Amino acid sequence: MNDKSTLVLGIETSCDETSAAVIRGRDEVLSLIISSQADLHARYGGVVPELASRAHLEVLLPAIEESLRQAGAGFRDIDAVAATRGPGLIGALLVGLTAAKAMAFALDIPLLAVNHLEAHIYANFLHFEDLEPPLVAFVVSGGHTLLVHMTEHRRYRLLGETLDDAAGEAYDKVARYLGLGYPGGAAIDRIARQGDPSAIAFPRAIMRDGSYNFSLSGLKTAVINYVRKLKENGQPVPTEDIAAGFEAAVVEVQVFKIVRAAQETAVKSVLLAGGVAANSYLREKLQEALDPMRVKLYYPPLQLCMDNAAMVAALGARMLSEGDISGLEVDVAAKLSLASAVSS
Ligand code: KG4
Ligand code: ZN
Repeated sequence: MNDKSTLVLGIETSCDETSAAVIRGRDEVLSLIISSQADLHARYGGVVPELASRAHLEVLLPAIEESLRQAGAGFRDIDAVAATRGPGLIGALLVGLTAAKAMAFALDIPLLAVNHLEAHIYANFLHFEDLEPPLVAFVVSGGHTLLVHMTEHRRYRLLGETLDDAAGEAYDKVARYLGLGYPGGAAIDRIARQGDPSAIAFPRAIMRDGSYNFSLSGLKTAVINYVRKLKENGQPVPTEDIAAGFEAAVVEVQVFKIVRAAQETAVKSVLLAGGVAANSYLREKLQEALDPMRVKLYYPPLQLCMDNAAMVAALGARMLSEGDISGLEVDVAAKLSLASAVSS
């Protein structure tokens, strides 16, 4: 089941974005509504789970209705409903998955319970028609850092992951310490452009350990200690150079490991997924490294890098075509690995 005219409604509520989207077939986005709660959480310097769930409750139904309206569809036109089941904040996930279950039951249509990490990867397939596995995927967001060998559609081999902080988390913590607000990844990206990436040499953690794992807590502490010392000595804090030096340390290790993964798996495509895939320095340095290897680099447009329901609907459409349909008893999961994405 699933042809070019199949309409799938996607719902995403795993963290602090409430999103609904309608796609036709596998990759035609008819509508995409994203309502960010960033302002709500900014004063706390991070996402407050209880506030997130309540905001999802208020915003989700209007977002679904608006996504249907923009798609020119009514509830009865939808052929299947996909929602994120994890990983994410339990209370936030429950709002989206429960709404999807209610729709699936009331309209008697298939429910597709989606793995958020896998959906980030599928944001790329939504956008690039020529993209096909095998490939190496780097999924990098506020909550995750995974390097994955995708051997065929929906089949994954985990190569490495973070041993402590996710990359986005480290960006956000350093940004907060530098007074750049929350979430701060994009702000670091912006002001690092005005700094010198080699002015301050921050540590490159576990770069040559032979693994595909990442570690950022030492780097984060090094940046914080560096700033503290300057402040204690009454010296000015060169925010631009610090942001550039921090970003260079993060990206150099990432590029080194992604390139080695591409070489060892002999793939011809590498894709970036997740919010940190928006990082311009990562995109630039990775492109420079992959070009001579004739490996093609893919990353989604900005709107599809961040949490969004179009990627959820895209993966849902793929699951529907494979008959990987979820029962109404499916539950949310705060932790969910990519390996558990495929239920068959
Ligand atoms: O995928 P996402 O929207 O949500 C999660 O699933 O976590 O990722 C959000 C993360 C935040 O930590 C944010 O600071 C980071 O992505 N981010 C960036 C950039 N834009 C967003 N990090 C580095 N450079 C950017 N340009
Ligand atoms: Zn995400």
